[in-house]
Amino acid sequence: MVVCALRGAGVYFHIRVLARGLKRYYTGRTSETIPAHVQWGVARFFNHLLIKDCIMANSEMLTAINEQIKHEYFSSYLYLSMSAYFADMGLSGFAHWMRMQAEEELLHANKMYDYVITRGGKIKLYAIDEPKSEWESPLDVFNFGLAQEKYVTGRINALMDLALQTKGHAAHSFLQWFVNEQVEEEESFTDIINTLKLVAGDGRGLLLVDRELTARAAPSIAPAAE
Ligand SMILES: [Fe+2]
Ligand SMILES: [Fe+2]
Repeated sequence: MVVCALRGAGVYFHIRVLARGLKRYYTGRTSETIPAHVQWGVARFFNHLLIKDCIMANSEMLTAINEQIKHEYFSSYLYLSMSAYFADMGLSGFAHWMRMQAEEELLHANKMYDYVITRGGKIKLYAIDEPKSEWESPLDVFNFGLAQEKYVTGRINALMDLALQTKGHAAHSFLQWFVNEQVEEEESFTDIINTLKLVAGDGRGLLLVDRELTARAAPSIAPAAE
């Protein structure tokens, strides 16, 4: 919003200077200028068009980021459900890994929430769907998780497309973090899927993976307005 206003003010004064220059050129007299009220009228007209366009693009972008908050919360809810599934199986390492994943998604949602607020947008929080709670195996769980990550990647890419179309440079910079994050998220799920395929349901192998997943640290995230 501040950027829009500054851009508008810049055009406002440029038009005034331009109007004076044109008058001098055609009249050859420097003492005469176009009446002040005409200059201000022309400048305000162009200024209004520019700011209106800027605000509309900004608001469309912020609305779209606001909608993504729901999907980040759904991811968190889904991974919490997966954590509960593993806890029920007695696989505490898997349960821990998914619990950390659920918390990381909350940080993503909050990062978007903070961004919308910081940019002067209005927050609307939507209902979150009930997540699936039963799977056939740990491999089935991680395949389902990878599908969710790919879905979110598609949504983040669509947001990035909108930022490019509307020349939303701040949103573009903000979303770049999420583009990189999605690459890491898909890689994490894929790595575990590959390991589980190697284990192929062997109980001892599964316990070794479970022990390894216990080591996942609590997530942290950079401030929203980076
Ligand atoms: Fe996320
Ligand atoms: Fe994710």
